[in-house]
Amino acid sequence: MTIYQPAEDSYLMSRILKEQIPDLLEKNPNLKFLEIGAGSGIHLETAKNLGIKKENIFSSDIDNKSVSHCKMLGFNCIYSDLFENISRKFDVIIFNPPYLPEDSREPKSSRTATTGGKKGNEIILKFLKQAKNYLTISGKIFLITSSLAEDVDFKKLDYKAKEIGCEKLFFERLCIWELE
Ligand SMILES: C[S@@+](CC[C@H](N)C(=O)[O-])C[C@H]1O[C@@H](n2cnc3c(N)ncnc32)[C@H](O)[C@@H]1O
Repeated sequence: MTIYQPAEDSYLMSRILKEQIPDLLEKNPNLKFLEIGAGSGIHLETAKNLGIKKENIFSSDIDNKSVSHCKMLGFNCIYSDLFENISRKFDVIIFNPPYLPEDSREPKSSRTATTGGKKGNEIILKFLKQAKNYLTISGKIFLITSSLAEDVDFKKLDYKAKEIGCEKLFFERLCIWELE
């Protein structure tokens, strides 16, 4: 496996964090932040630069290379398949998930970072079923979805969902959802 290098989806998430985190931090200076699937650690750096206390920034990845890399950057990062090794609650949880439908042309080395299952949304659905147990009462999730995957019925999964930023690419539309 290779560490996912920041791309358009990462930059969209960075933009949303810069828009959303300052207000949330003003309300709660002790905000606890978790990123599932931290990859290169780009959002951990953003979270730190926006003023989230370093000891309140947590992260995980299913890829051991990413875990070692984020640890080397000085962040708290653990190996975990979604929430399997996580046991506390957070005020903000972010996930730029693997969201593309399976494609046999995709090299094995990058599939873990990009492929979300046959329809593309399987990992997202698994994430959403677990995530509510790790959110504080007023906590928020920022999650990316792609128009190339099957839609997610957030209401059916008991989430209040708001689209807060989208980006039209050549062949797909990426959106970030704020979920409560
Ligand atoms: C699209 S990349 C995003 C990386 C980085 N967060 C960014 O925005 O640039 C998806 C990341 O999720 C990780 N990942 C995939 N499945 C996962 C799972 N089940 N649990 C935790 N992390 C997972 C991948 O290893 C990869 O680092």
